[in-house]
Amino acid sequence: MRYFIGNWKMFGVPNSIGILNKINNFVRKDKNNKKYQAIFTPPFTLLESFSKYFTKKAIKIGAQNCYHKDIFSSNTGAISSYMIKNVGAKYVIIGHSDNRFEGDTNQILKSKVAYSLKNNLKVIFCIGENKKEKRKNLTSNILKNQISKVIERKFNQNNLILAYEPIWSIGTGKVPSEKELIRTIKLIKKTLKKIFGTKKIPKVLYGGSVDSKSIKVFKKINELDGFLIGGASKSSKNFIDIIKNYYR
Ligand code: PGA
Repeated sequence: MRYFIGNWKMFGVPNSIGILNKINNFVRKDKNNKKYQAIFTPPFTLLESFSKYFTKKAIKIGAQNCYHKDIFSSNTGAISSYMIKNVGAKYVIIGHSDNRFEGDTNQILKSKVAYSLKNNLKVIFCIGENKKEKRKNLTSNILKNQISKVIERKFNQNNLILAYEPIWSIGTGKVPSEKELIRTIKLIKKTLKKIFGTKKIPKVLYGGSVDSKSIKVFKKINELDGFLIGGASKSSKNFIDIIKNYYR
């Protein structure tokens, strides 16, 4: 199973459901639709209405983040994974670099992942190095650290997806070379195998400037289990073209 996940970030109003409807209709009729799952993470304001609307439809809905405490707490503006689960969402992104910038430490992220899994959400956990770290050849160490400080053997690997998103690639149009990406994905999978002690490990996706053009290169990389898509997920045409070009 491959994953195509659209991360809307701070985008969307109730009317934007039209974009997802078009994508849903495409997926429903696509001859390849057994091979992949399309997921969208709209902002919190749309989470309940979209989750309810797309229950039993082809695409699934998730949240972009959650708070690091369980159920309810006295934290203004915070939303827990329990609350996300209770409005019908199925997935949650944790550790996106936007949130790491805002102060999400490994310890906070571990708590977010643990509570989300406990509340039966599927977690899309993001990791990735920044430009400076890449220049200093620190990518492997950074990624190993980001994984091992958060992911525990006791976590349910079936409900965990990893997304490798090099920060320097997000929204920039710059993407890693094929060779670089294969090496990195292999390293991530090896690190996960070590943690879980099994051959079966979470799926590993790539994110960062994925569009209908760059997908033509990424599709050759068999090690990749799917994609986390930001900018190009805000247009039904762009998102559909990514899937079409992937299976072409
Ligand atoms: P991008 O964003 O596709 O616009 O580069 C990816 C992400 O931040 O998840």
